[in-house]
Amino acid sequence: MTTLEEAITLLPTKGYLNMDIPEGLNLVDEINRMRKEKNAIILAHYYQTGDIQDISDFLGDSLQLARAAGKTDADMIVFCGVHFMAETAKILNPAKKVVLPDLLAGCSLADSCSGERLRDLKKQHPDAIVISYINCDSGVKAESDIIVTSSNAGHIINSLPEEQEIIFAPDRNLGRYINQTAGRSMILWDGACTVHEAFSLERIAQQMLEYPKAKLIAHPEAQKPVLQVADYIGSTANLLNYVVDSDSREFIVATEEGILHEMRKRAPDKTLIPALTMDEKCNCSECHFMKLNTMEKLYLCMKYELPEILMDEEVRLKALRPINKMLELSKAIK
Ligand code: 13P
Ligand code: SF4
Repeated sequence: MTTLEEAITLLPTKGYLNMDIPEGLNLVDEINRMRKEKNAIILAHYYQTGDIQDISDFLGDSLQLARAAGKTDADMIVFCGVHFMAETAKILNPAKKVVLPDLLAGCSLADSCSGERLRDLKKQHPDAIVISYINCDSGVKAESDIIVTSSNAGHIINSLPEEQEIIFAPDRNLGRYINQTAGRSMILWDGACTVHEAFSLERIAQQMLEYPKAKLIAHPEAQKPVLQVADYIGSTANLLNYVVDSDSREFIVATEEGILHEMRKRAPDKTLIPALTMDEKCNCSECHFMKLNTMEKLYLCMKYELPEILMDEEVRLKALRPINKMLELSKAIK
């Protein structure tokens, strides 16, 4: 049996990936078989590849996935997303085995902040409460008072007294957007999502000229100049709903392009144009962390039940409190 440590070092290498996958094996059949045999649930974020989205039991944004992870009675949660999401699942449902196809699936936002550095900032603002975006590790969650996602951040922050001093970590773009829309002056951590910061306003402006009827829709992790010209700003799930429900036929989509898979399925008659990024060579708005998960790694992860998310119980309990607070305060949000 491969140990956890061995799996961590071996999983990203091709050798390990090829080791156990016989040529011609039908991965979909095998994954379906193991899902049943092991009483596993596959949770996938909208930014996963289309094949992983299609095989998942539940597809959602950060908030929907946290809720699904917290209430499942499956024995194993196979989390197709990034590390902080799988960690959140473990925090909420510790009795379950939680596995992530690639343990290196991180997040630039989560990497920008640590519990220790956040503690230092809290010392400078002793009266402030800490609201952290769910895109952070368990150490940061443990130092926070309330966790939010892009679906419920505005709702939760608006419910707090106006005079309440707030530290908002770690996304400066989402924080700035809420400061502006909610009339707040939260102290912002200086972190950002490299994917959503890559959009080019100049190139998007050209797309808007090319598709004059298209609505520009953007995730609040994008930078201010893009948000300023957007017709609609929302979380991944809200952007999806907007495309499905809107009377418009064309959309320039400024978020991670994995969501286009579900948008195309739910709104097949609409034209979806991925917003252009500053990188003229690739034009891609893919999160390379999210895309580390593949069908092969999903198969191996279900077979070996590795890599597993393990956590210190004291940290888990501290991190659980602000997540539960979020779930309580956002019951009205779908
Ligand atoms: P949501 O799923 O909350 O829209 O967050 C987007 C994201 O960047 C996830 O990593
Ligand atoms: Fe993190 Fe951005 Fe990737 Fe989401 S899209 S996981 S915020 S780097």
